[in-house]
Amino acid sequence: MSADSSTASTKPQSITIGGRELASRFFLAPLAGYTHLAFRVVIRRIGGVGLCTTDLVQAQMLVSQTRKSLELVATSPEDNPLSVQIYSGVPEQLIAAARWLEDNGYEAIDINMGCPMAKVNGQGGGARLMCDTSGATDLVGRVIDAVRLPVTVKMRLGWDRDNQTAPQLAAAFENIGVAAVTVHGRTRQQGFHGSVNREGIKATVDAVKSMPIVGNGDVRTAAEALSMIEETGCAAVAIGRGAMLDPWLFRRIADLECGRTPAEPTADEQITFLSGHFHEMRKQHGDYSCLMFRKFAAWYGARLGIPEDLEDRLRRFESAAEFDELVGDIAKRHGERESTVPTALIRVPNGPVEKW
Ligand SMILES: Cc1cc2nc3c(=O)[nH]c(=O)nc-3n(C[C@H](O)[C@H](O)[C@H](O)COP(=O)(O)O)c2cc1C
Repeated sequence: MSADSSTASTKPQSITIGGRELASRFFLAPLAGYTHLAFRVVIRRIGGVGLCTTDLVQAQMLVSQTRKSLELVATSPEDNPLSVQIYSGVPEQLIAAARWLEDNGYEAIDINMGCPMAKVNGQGGGARLMCDTSGATDLVGRVIDAVRLPVTVKMRLGWDRDNQTAPQLAAAFENIGVAAVTVHGRTRQQGFHGSVNREGIKATVDAVKSMPIVGNGDVRTAAEALSMIEETGCAAVAIGRGAMLDPWLFRRIADLECGRTPAEPTADEQITFLSGHFHEMRKQHGDYSCLMFRKFAAWYGARLGIPEDLEDRLRRFESAAEFDELVGDIAKRHGERESTVPTALIRVPNGPVEKW
């Protein structure tokens, strides 16, 4: 890793991971079902995003090229730099998927070791891998040996409070050539409950020599992004839900990092984001996007302060022409309803983690 601080006062610090220079140390963390290609493209246009990662893709499904997995790894020239996240507990599947990604022109691979969901853990993938340090190291090492692409790992602090294996694993991964490790500062047992343990992230940073550790969890504001680096010593920060709640967060961070007052998005910028999101989705999914976009209606309603009757139309439009007309009406009536932060709209699993 190297950080370029010579121009820090005018532009954000860059970071190099796996031989690739990334223009910012602030990354979009994957949120399955939300951080799809269209969202990645529009959030990148705002600026300040150093790296995006696809939603997790089951390795065998990718090699079999199922429709769903090809949708998940769909990308475009604007969607760069990108890492594809794969998961499986079976080494042969991960190796085959990594080779497939290399053969198909992708530039980086991320292995999921953080997912708490039973269907992922039950197959030995996701956070389950953190329970067997040598097994996980062996598995990741085999993937690294199979491809020339940089391989990173995303994990939690460990399985539960008594098994916080992140520092041990990160040290072992550094020795076998993992390019970077992202640590979500919760255990699998915690799911999404409780607060993020920055001490645990710091312990992981302290356990490695120079491999970049990417801190992750609960960053919602520009100040929290910078304090994650200050308090843990991490090299970069990945932000998931905070970026959904405020897509302008990365630009705010860049402003703050460079000593500028973070800029609020103008009405035009907000409308452009809304319109761009739908039209990018339409490039990939055609008219089916009208249906897919409904999931975001309440989110945009709250975030952009769209009057209730127009939000309702956002939930029912059936064609791109209807959407464009609606956007025109939204622009005309901007400011009629107060904009709020739609905190409740990203669902995380609830109840005992064993049942997820
Ligand atoms: C709805 C949802 C989907 C997620 N999907 C993924 C995923 O596909 N891969 C992954 O590594 N982490 C996934 N995560 C975890 C996030 O990347 C991140 O580690 C976690 O949300 C904490 O960071 P945040 O507070 O910035 O969101 C997901 C989280 C949520 C809430």
